[in-house]
Amino acid sequence: MAGVDGSLAAEAAIRWATAEAASRGAELHLIQAVTPLLPGHTVDHAAAVEILDAAVALARELAPGVAVDGRLDDGTPSAALIKASTEADLVVIGSRGLGLMLGALIGSTGLDLAANAWCPIVVVRPDLAGESGTRVVIGYDGSSASDRALELGLDYAHRHELKLRVVAAQPPNTELHRITPEELQAAVHDRAHGQHAELVQITGHPAEHLLRLSADARLIVLGARGRGGFTGMLLGSTTQTVLHHAHCPVAIIPTAALGG
Ligand SMILES: Nc1ncnc2c1ncn2[C@@H]1O[C@H](COP(=O)(O)OP(=O)(O)O)[C@@H](O)[C@H]1O
Ligand SMILES: [Mg+2]
Repeated sequence: MAGVDGSLAAEAAIRWATAEAASRGAELHLIQAVTPLLPGHTVDHAAAVEILDAAVALARELAPGVAVDGRLDDGTPSAALIKASTEADLVVIGSRGLGLMLGALIGSTGLDLAANAWCPIVVVRPDLAGESGTRVVIGYDGSSASDRALELGLDYAHRHELKLRVVAAQPPNTELHRITPEELQAAVHDRAHGQHAELVQITGHPAEHLLRLSADARLIVLGARGRGGFTGMLLGSTTQTVLHHAHCPVAIIPTAALGG
């Protein structure tokens, strides 16, 4: 499923989601939220229908074999997409919408979804950077969210014939949550079905290393939360930093997507 709003980032999201739906043999549902405005203002329904129709036409043209439909939702973009995420396998959105938040690479919808969606999400940049990348990079910290990140990353790498790099960074000056090489190896081996993965264990700031080791990435995969942080937070600091600075699409496993 992909969210559309007529922006360049949304077009990138449609292209990415269409390719992924084709690869997975899945249907593609395009959703455009048409948020009711303040009293006295009216929603330009005709314009919204036009944008949605163009989005559906683009997806059908890109992948004639994929079943594509589109619908309007009268909630806010995040409410509409979070609701839709209860029935989707994956929600794909553009990193920025039409709203302007100066200096931020990711919009509020992306942050809201990463924190609250019921299935994995992918945030795609408008410039389609990362399209030529050759590997999937996964951030692993031993949390159940990063276990799911490992599974999603392995599956994506397998289907798209990409190399795989699993990064476990140990923050300096702490022994908290240290992962042994054996634990890392076992976590990957148990899920890899023979796929080869490069394992990188390194000391330092996790987000810094993840970004540095993703220069050649087609996709970065992370949990929304990890093992550290504060319980009240919905998005961990590693994930927030990577979402703001990544040069390729980022897949996030929200906590609600982990199930019981
Ligand atoms: N030390 C680390 N090395 C590699 N990846 C990490 C590390 N810490 C976190 N990550 C990745 O980032 C995700 C979110 O973790 P983080 O932002 O640190 O949240 P929290 O504050 O809850 O620990 C994790 O699920 C994992 O994918
Ligand atoms: Mg952490």
